[in-house]
Amino acid sequence: MTALLEVEDLRVAYGKIEAVKGISFSVEAGQVVTLIGTNGAGKTTTLRTLSGLLQPLGGEIRFDGKPLRGVPAHKIVALGLAHSPEGRHIFPRLSIAENLQLGAFLRKDADGIAADIRKAYELFPILGERRNQAAGTLSGGEQQMLAMGRALMSRPKLLMLDEPSMGLSPIMMQKIMQTIAELKSQGTTILLVEQNAQAALSLADQGHVMEIGKIVLSGTGEALLHDESVRKAYLGED
Ligand SMILES: Nc1ncnc2c1ncn2[C@@H]1O[C@H](COP(=O)(O)OP(=O)(O)OP(=O)(O)O)[C@@H](O)[C@H]1O
Ligand SMILES: [Mg+2]
Repeated sequence: MTALLEVEDLRVAYGKIEAVKGISFSVEAGQVVTLIGTNGAGKTTTLRTLSGLLQPLGGEIRFDGKPLRGVPAHKIVALGLAHSPEGRHIFPRLSIAENLQLGAFLRKDADGIAADIRKAYELFPILGERRNQAAGTLSGGEQQMLAMGRALMSRPKLLMLDEPSMGLSPIMMQKIMQTIAELKSQGTTILLVEQNAQAALSLADQGHVMEIGKIVLSGTGEALLHDESVRKAYLGED
C-alpha cells in the first residue's frame, strides 16, 4: 500500500542556510505521525514546505498519489492537506464563526459547511458558546482550538498541527491532546509537530526525531518513548 504522504530526501533552504537536509518519512492513512526535536531542528520548515508555503531545494513529496512540488498552497489545501500553523494565526477581529467559515473557503457545499461548523462546536463547546465573539478575545488555548477547528473545516485527508500545546497551561494542554486522540479515533490522519515529546509520542503510531535538519531516529511512538537517548534528550531524564 502506498502511504497518504510520502516525503523523500526533502531539502529546504533559506538562502544559503539549509534548514532541512534530506529527510524521508511517510504517513499512512489513519495514522498519527509525530516530528519531535529541539528548537531550530527544521520541523516548522518541513510543514511549511508540505503546505506549499516554501519551495524545496530538492527531494520529492507525494500526497494521495500526486507530486506536490510546485503546486501552489491553495491547491494543496484543495487536495486535502490542512495546516494549523505554529502561533495559530487566527483572524483576531473576525468572530469565531467567521474564522471557521474561512477554513472552508474552497468549499461550495453550504449544508456540509454548516454541518462541519456544528461538529467543530461539538468538539470544542467553548467555541460554540462564544461563536459571535471576536477571536482575538479568546485565551491562548481557546485560540488553539479555533486554529484546529478552522483547519478541519477544509475536511482534510491529512491534518498538520504545528505545536498545538505551545504556551498552554497543563490542563489546556491535556485538553488539546485529548482532542487529538479523539480525532485519531475518528480516523483523522495527523502529522503532529510537538515540543512536548511525552504527549506526542504517547499518541503517535510513528515518530521521528529531528536534529539540525535531519531525522536522527525513527520508530513507533511506544519505542521512542522508551528509547534511552530520547528519554535523556527530550523527556528530561538523566
Ligand atoms: N524565514 C527564515 N529565514 C531564515 N532562517 C530561517 C527562517 N525560518 C527558520 N529559519 C531557520 O531554519 C532553521 C529551522 O527552523 P524551524 O522553524 O523549521 O525549526 P523548528 O524545528 O520548527 O523549531 P521550533 O521548535 O523552535 O519551532 C532554524 O535554524 C531557523 O533559524
Ligand atoms: Mg517550529
